[in-house]
Amino acid sequence: MIKNIINMLNIKLNLLHSILNGSAHPNYFLLIWQLSIAQPFLFNLLIHLKLMLYMKSKKENVASNAENTKLSYGPLEKKMAKGENLFHDLFINALKDIYWAEKYLLKALPKVAKSATTTELRETINDHLLETEEQEKKLVRVFELIGEKPQGKKCEAMEGLVMEANEIINETDAGSYSRDAALIMTAQKIEHYQIASYGSLKEFAKTMGHHDAVLILNEILEEEKKADQELNEIAISRINEQARTEWLS
Ligand SMILES: [Fe+2]
Repeated sequence: MIKNIINMLNIKLNLLHSILNGSAHPNYFLLIWQLSIAQPFLFNLLIHLKLMLYMKSKKENVASNAENTKLSYGPLEKKMAKGENLFHDLFINALKDIYWAEKYLLKALPKVAKSATTTELRETINDHLLETEEQEKKLVRVFELIGEKPQGKKCEAMEGLVMEANEIINETDAGSYSRDAALIMTAQKIEHYQIASYGSLKEFAKTMGHHDAVLILNEILEEEKKADQELNEIAISRINEQARTEWLS
């Protein structure tokens, strides 16, 4: 008799399992309720075991799905999982480029200033040299603000522009206005490279929410724009006109 009841309960609890899986007819709820009244102890014991088995199989399914998701990661997902953001990498690389460029200018500008014909150009370059020293420190602060180590990465463009300035010094007559006109043109190319770099860096930082870094980058950007304007001013106010009057001797 008891054996029959247990068998019957088992059949009905299998149906309960089907209901939990969403595959049985809801009318079976009524039968299970009747059985729970007839044999409450056995019913409780069996339902407990069934629920444990059900939860175990669900847990295994979740673990298996997670494993499958992990295995399907591509290169981008792997980078995201490790917290490597591509836009952040781009920002850091550009920052390293301009940091290298500023340090390189600190070595190169004294020779350019010394080679200038006019006091105006020499003073303008020397003033910007002092500003460049401060800009290097400001860039170190930007690196710190975004949690990166200050590090330079060779800037081919700046190396090329400094090479151009040295060529001008070698190919023009010392003491000529033409030398200054040519040096101003190259110095303005350098400024324009920096204006483009700091302009983009500032926008990158803004997009990523590095608000303190934006303020510093904008400060340097304005200094570069001012230096460009000053170079332009001395060229058009006097030096270009004086260079026009120079002839090969
Ligand atoms: Fe600069």
